[in-house]
Amino acid sequence: MTFKRKDLLGLRDLSAAEIGHLLDVADQFRGLNLRSIKKVPTLRGKSVVHLFLEPSTRTRTSFDIAAKRLSADTHAITGSASSTTKGETLLDTARNLAAMHPDILVVRHRYAGGVRMLAEALPDTAIINAGDGACEHPTQGLLDLLTIRRALGGVAGKTVTIVGDITHSRVARSDIWGLTKLGARVRVCGPPTLIPPGIERMGAEVHHHLEPALKDADVAIMLRIQKERMFQGGHYIPSQREYSRLYGLSRAKLKRWARRDLLIMHPGPINRGVELEPEVADSEWSVILDQVENGVAVRMGVMYLLLGGEGAARREGRGP
Ligand code: CP
Repeated sequence: MTFKRKDLLGLRDLSAAEIGHLLDVADQFRGLNLRSIKKVPTLRGKSVVHLFLEPSTRTRTSFDIAAKRLSADTHAITGSASSTTKGETLLDTARNLAAMHPDILVVRHRYAGGVRMLAEALPDTAIINAGDGACEHPTQGLLDLLTIRRALGGVAGKTVTIVGDITHSRVARSDIWGLTKLGARVRVCGPPTLIPPGIERMGAEVHHHLEPALKDADVAIMLRIQKERMFQGGHYIPSQREYSRLYGLSRAKLKRWARRDLLIMHPGPINRGVELEPEVADSEWSVILDQVENGVAVRMGVMYLLLGGEGAARREGRGP
């Protein structure tokens, strides 16, 4: 199968076959990351600009490592060091960067839909959404799918419970689109204030209590409360302590309510002691660092396929 898209904006846009193909290609790149020499000439002569106008540790580093391992030239611009601080708009910033002819622009921005706007405005540059507001974070969704697929042998028929601040989470949205397309059952669990109305229409079953939400689940994806996206002065939870008591995962709750082989995931950053007790985050149930590891392979796969995959690499004499 070939992947014929200019951009990667969200998992909502992709078919199950396209997602499966992306995961297959990413899985092939995993081995490269374990070698002593981790570089291949696949994207030699290509350039990738990382435009991150919101903070990031994992996604930005992972994209940068992925591009460099494929031999692309990379250039990073962060919010505080960009001319957006002088009043330049996102669109003007992106148009100016595109005028330098990068092959890929990786963008993180706080406005939902902002990255899609850039993809429409810049017909000659591949745009990758590295997180737009509470809309989507497709490469996180893909690395979550790859982690589940590798750990459980597949995604179809699995029950995945996403716990926490669903309202403000782009990870939850990308996960729900991807998981349901690949045939998983998805439950979301959190206080009513943090579950957006209409989420059932995406195919998710809504729970407000952790015990039934965890019952017979194969995977629990724990989310951070995203205070930075909350309406200032809004009261979403009575207190952090109360939230943790009701929705945080502890070893005691796991023993009482979850399957012994439950997989625990978290996109990071973790607020230890809030959504996850430290001993659970570091436990035998946790595959959180596997997610991070798989993230590099996923981003390699995405960049490789957006720039034409094997066909283009062979035509241009830069095959893997
Ligand atoms: N998962 C994720 O997006 O983490 P960062 O914000 O550190 O990139």
